[in-house]
Amino acid sequence: MIFLLTLTIFLILKESWFRFFSYLCKKSKTFVLMPKLPKFLQFASITKKITLALIGLFLMLFLLTHLGINLCLLRNDGGEWFRAAAHFMGTNYIVKVFEVMLFGAIGLHILLALIIQFHNWMARPVGYASGNKSKTAFGSKLMIWSGLLVALFLVVHLVHFWFAKVGWTEGIYTVKIENVEKALGKKQFALNEALMNTENENEWFSIQREFMELQNYIENDERFHVLMFSGNTGQRFITNLSKADIDEMRSFLDVKYEPDFYYMARDLFSIWWVVVMYFFFMVALGFHLAHAFPSAFQTLGAAHSKYTPIIKFVGISFAMLVSVGFAIIPIFFYFCK
Ligand code: HEM
Repeated sequence: MIFLLTLTIFLILKESWFRFFSYLCKKSKTFVLMPKLPKFLQFASITKKITLALIGLFLMLFLLTHLGINLCLLRNDGGEWFRAAAHFMGTNYIVKVFEVMLFGAIGLHILLALIIQFHNWMARPVGYASGNKSKTAFGSKLMIWSGLLVALFLVVHLVHFWFAKVGWTEGIYTVKIENVEKALGKKQFALNEALMNTENENEWFSIQREFMELQNYIENDERFHVLMFSGNTGQRFITNLSKADIDEMRSFLDVKYEPDFYYMARDLFSIWWVVVMYFFFMVALGFHLAHAFPSAFQTLGAAHSKYTPIIKFVGISFAMLVSVGFAIIPIFFYFCK
């Protein structure tokens, strides 16, 4: 993300400072001092727009998937469905590849949008004498600002959730009992092996005692707030663990752990201003999508007097569904959990 942002700023500055300079000097409105972009970025404006539209549609599909999973948070099952979905999304290799593609797509979408917008600004630095009153111009103007708000939201949002997954911030963690049992079994096996290769019985007993203590510790120690969870999926978790708890546990056993996004969402959305902030950003997302949807289809050539109103209607419905769908989650948590 940081790399893409730096690249964006560099390219924008590189391509545009001559134009800007010539504008300031009032030398020319046609900007003859146009420097060259690197070869791989010398696409026609329409190519950039088509790429932007296709990536936008791909991101909309991501939003639908993300919303579908997040709506599991609203179920009254203590987060069982959501945890199972988050576990799948966090461990499946195809999803991991998809995640890299997703971040690439987001970066490219922002980069192209900024380049196109900057060109538009530079192409008409003086503005219309009587103001541009066309609906399209108004919608397009909103696009860059609502888009920047969505980008800002993404940064805040990733810090809230994704950063904990990659270990950049502290989160709340969960460990599957199944994984604890696996790690215990592995250690037990190693112990038996060691026992067969050693004559030292005292050592064996001391390690055995260590295991008993460990098992006791996992099941009964209050610091773990043990929640033996057994739902329809038959999955059992120890959850509400801090990083210190995890480090302590991992000093005994090599257990796999993952963030408990259900508890993280519950804690995050118990703060009123976070809920208001998410609501505000979801309104911006709604605006962005409502205009982006028909705009993408128009760029891809689907402009027809018969179908355009239908596309616009579908776009507004999609934008409503996504923004309202996401917005109700923090509100629901704040008032109902
Ligand atoms: C209240 C609404 C939302 C909730 C509760 C929520 C929850 C989450 C959670 C728990 C994660 C981490 C998942 C993981 O890394 O395995 C995540 C990641 C992410 N979210 Fe959201 N999200 C919400 C809205 C949004 C919106 C509106 C967008 C886009 C505009 C978005 C974009 C992302 C992206 C790009 C990631 C990182 C990619 C990924 O890990 O899948 N989220 N979100």
